[in-house]
Amino acid sequence: MADNWSPESWRSKPYVQIPDYPDKEALAVAESRLASFPPLVFAGEARALKQSLATVSTGEAFLLQGGDCAESFAEHGADNIRDFFRLFLQMSVILTFAAAKPVVKVGRIAGQFAKPRSSDFEKKGDVSLPSYRGDIVNATEFDEASRVPDPERQIMAYRQSAATLNLLRAFAQGGYANLEHVHEWMLDFVENSPQSERYNQIADRLTETLRFMKAIGFSADEYPRLRETDFYTSHEALLLGYEQAMTRIDSTSGDYYDTSGHMLWIGDRTRQPDHAHVEFCRGIKNPIGLKCGPTTTPEGLLELVDILNPTNEAGRLTLIARFGADKVGEHLPQLIRAIEKEGRNVVWSCDPMHGNTITSSTGYKTRPFDRVMKEVQQFFMIHQAEGTYPGGVHFEMTGKDVTECTGGARALSDDDLGDRYHTHCDPRLNATQSLELAFMIAELLQQGRGSERQKVAV
Ligand code: PEP
Ligand code: CO
Repeated sequence: MADNWSPESWRSKPYVQIPDYPDKEALAVAESRLASFPPLVFAGEARALKQSLATVSTGEAFLLQGGDCAESFAEHGADNIRDFFRLFLQMSVILTFAAAKPVVKVGRIAGQFAKPRSSDFEKKGDVSLPSYRGDIVNATEFDEASRVPDPERQIMAYRQSAATLNLLRAFAQGGYANLEHVHEWMLDFVENSPQSERYNQIADRLTETLRFMKAIGFSADEYPRLRETDFYTSHEALLLGYEQAMTRIDSTSGDYYDTSGHMLWIGDRTRQPDHAHVEFCRGIKNPIGLKCGPTTTPEGLLELVDILNPTNEAGRLTLIARFGADKVGEHLPQLIRAIEKEGRNVVWSCDPMHGNTITSSTGYKTRPFDRVMKEVQQFFMIHQAEGTYPGGVHFEMTGKDVTECTGGARALSDDDLGDRYHTHCDPRLNATQSLELAFMIAELLQQGRGSERQKVAV
């Protein structure tokens, strides 16, 4: 176990972004109830994910992580989960085909409720109220009562996470992910788009291959790998009281695992090395993500890597770069060099969302799709130049036909944003934009395969 660490040792450290609950007694009751509830995931699964991430760190697999910015109580329904899962499977097929490598699938789902905010207060006219911090803390409605942190919401978030995870497990293991159904994952509103045409071409080739394999004796009935998939969950480890309550000792290894999700990440606003969030995450054995932003320095990063992964275990740490299309070129190379120089095993992943948020001319928080694409392209180019592996991507996305990010093949404009702007927090890529991005990454991965072959040839 990590030195001087316990599930509650974070409490003696300074912290930001954790709300002050007015009713401390109710908070303690909620946390102790959570601590008595069954775990949502178990340690063996988190270990399996870590193993898979270890293969990403050596360039043998690719990580796809994505989902809502913030899950919400209002949007909790089977259709949303199914459409998200279908889209995720489609993107995975596109990437697997291109990379000729396994795709490690990690959703921002079944626990992604708590949100860090850039301001503690939200102002409308003359009224200033505490900011919305995610459905696990308070409500979006702009009135005083809605913004009071309510501990009971943690219980509701736990129950929603359990129900969501239950359906995801059924989809992943119960036949929905069967590769023989690859054509059926297409979402209605994506049909007749250039993306659907490209996707169907891949799906046709895959179906043909599966027919051939069946003919020579490898059918999905007999080979579970063809009809099942491993799907993992992740969220930001932000609301530490909740995370502590979900942290349990694994009876097999004697180690602590946070059983609220398979992978947890530390956000850009809470990665101070001497603060509570880093303290909590250093002691749990789950795979950990660490957001790296424009204020991350090479020395600061190495300090965090030392704290979070002192044994240099492969698969333990995923560095999620989120600089913005215009800043990634200035910041990422020096971080990569620092990690390489010290020989640290990490997965490098690209979050092209959080550094590219702007306000539209119509007053919506949005992300221009071309900037999102540009950051991903730069991420790949920089890794190619440094001789390192661009291991994965991290998106805010939904299977729904929302209008939250501008641009893309359907050229959403500032004026379109009001049509279906549903997010509870940051703007998400809709299904068409997500597929478009997956195809672009597929091309980048194929170029990478080309240069691998060249290296071998040399
Ligand atoms: C997020 O992932 O939703 C988020 C808030 O990101 P970051 O910490 O990188 O700003
Ligand atoms: Co976000």
